Amino acid sequence: HGKPQIKINGKVYDEHPEYTNVSSTVLNLSDRSLHLKPAHPVGILRKQIEDKLNSTSNSFQLYNNFRPVVTVEENFDSLGFPQDHPGRSKSDTYYVNDKHLFRTHTSAHEVECFGNIQEFCPKVTSKTPTEKPGFLITADVYRRDEIDRTHYPVFHQMEGARVWRRSAEKCADGQEPLHIQKMRHDLAKLEKQLREESGNLVVQDDVSLEGNPKQSYMSDLEVDLCSQHLKRSIELLVAQVFNKKLESMGCKKSEAEFQVRWIKAYFPWTTPSWEIEVFWQGEWLELCGCGVVREQLLLNAGYDKDSTIGWAFGLGLDRIAMLLFEIPDIRLFWTQDERFHSQFREGQITKFKPYSKYPGTTRDVAFWLPQTQEASTLSPIHENDIMEIVREEAGDMVESVKLIDQFTHPKTNKKSFCYRINYQSMDRNLTNNEINEIQENVRRELVQKYNVSLR
Ligand code: PHE
Repeated sequence: HGKPQIKINGKVYDEHPEYTNVSSTVLNLSDRSLHLKPAHPVGILRKQIEDKLNSTSNSFQLYNNFRPVVTVEENFDSLGFPQDHPGRSKSDTYYVNDKHLFRTHTSAHEVECFGNIQEFCPKVTSKTPTEKPGFLITADVYRRDEIDRTHYPVFHQMEGARVWRRSAEKCADGQEPLHIQKMRHDLAKLEKQLREESGNLVVQDDVSLEGNPKQSYMSDLEVDLCSQHLKRSIELLVAQVFNKKLESMGCKKSEAEFQVRWIKAYFPWTTPSWEIEVFWQGEWLELCGCGVVREQLLLNAGYDKDSTIGWAFGLGLDRIAMLLFEIPDIRLFWTQDERFHSQFREGQITKFKPYSKYPGTTRDVAFWLPQTQEASTLSPIHENDIMEIVREEAGDMVESVKLIDQFTHPKTNKKSFCYRINYQSMDRNLTNNEINEIQENVRRELVQKYNVSLR
């Protein structure tokens, strides 16, 4: 009776007729907390980065237990996402109802965590105050996306942030303001550590701020010091992770240079903003978005105007963990198979040894879209909806789904699509019968949910 409801991690939410689109796949994955498992690749990597970033001056409060359902306000509004930002769409995001969703990034917790920094946030009496001027948040994040060996509806991010309180007064006897001295001191310490530990790191950094504006409440010097501290912090963590890998591959640090580059970026709640890429096995790999935090975000967290400057970054952990541990398919992170888990040890980066490669089987599904949406109350189909149906029916028995053909009939204008589904399990052989059954279910769901005509 009453409204339909969903229970997630012990909390009950009302469903919403238009918004609710969480799948049972996602619900089932939402209490796994892989990042907390000390001998899981994602957990090992998380710990390593936390230790490294806190090794300089132990400035980061750790948050690793935030629940995955947050408000639209926390995930988008508080960060300044415009109303029409594509990230908000139901085709990209899992909504619980019109006000709650599965966080799409760890930035959803920035305002709360900035608000916990007591010294900087005098007006707010946080229930969980911290003395530290920075924080690291690691959590599972959720996005509706394609299906292949590197995409999974749940992955992991680490958010990092650091602030400095500005000292308004000019110092006597020609000295620089206290916070500038402090920032210079913090930066110098970081640079020294970076030189000592990562002499083999080659950095391409175009420091020009053209098209990447600074905020007017900050001086050029403040922007420069804050940006440098941000970049050196990320370089330190990237160097640590990749040097560990190079070492485990038998390379001597002094001989193995590796390259990173900084690229201008855009995020609604930071400016200037960047992304860092690392050159690894012949490719530039995007690792992390970051920037100088917009003052509006700090004001949202309860800070006084003009009082504080700071930076933030968001780092994707799964791709890095796949590369470090040489894991060929992201689904392996989620397997319960002991042959996977028994291979990893707390604190160690080791190469994954595939226990077996089970053969895959492909099946195609081709269909006409309903001619017009007019007579239908069903929503138009998005590619991610097809992915979702396959995930729901096949679970981790699907390796990838690819659009292999698409055309429009010249006379009727009807659109046809053909998707190729590769069924393959990481843990066992699949029988033809079970694949046929899944395939039939996928076909039936496509018709029932989206009124397509199968071909
Ligand atoms: N949340 C952003 C993402 O998921 C990354 C980011 C974090 C960018 C913090 C800037 C500051 O892409």
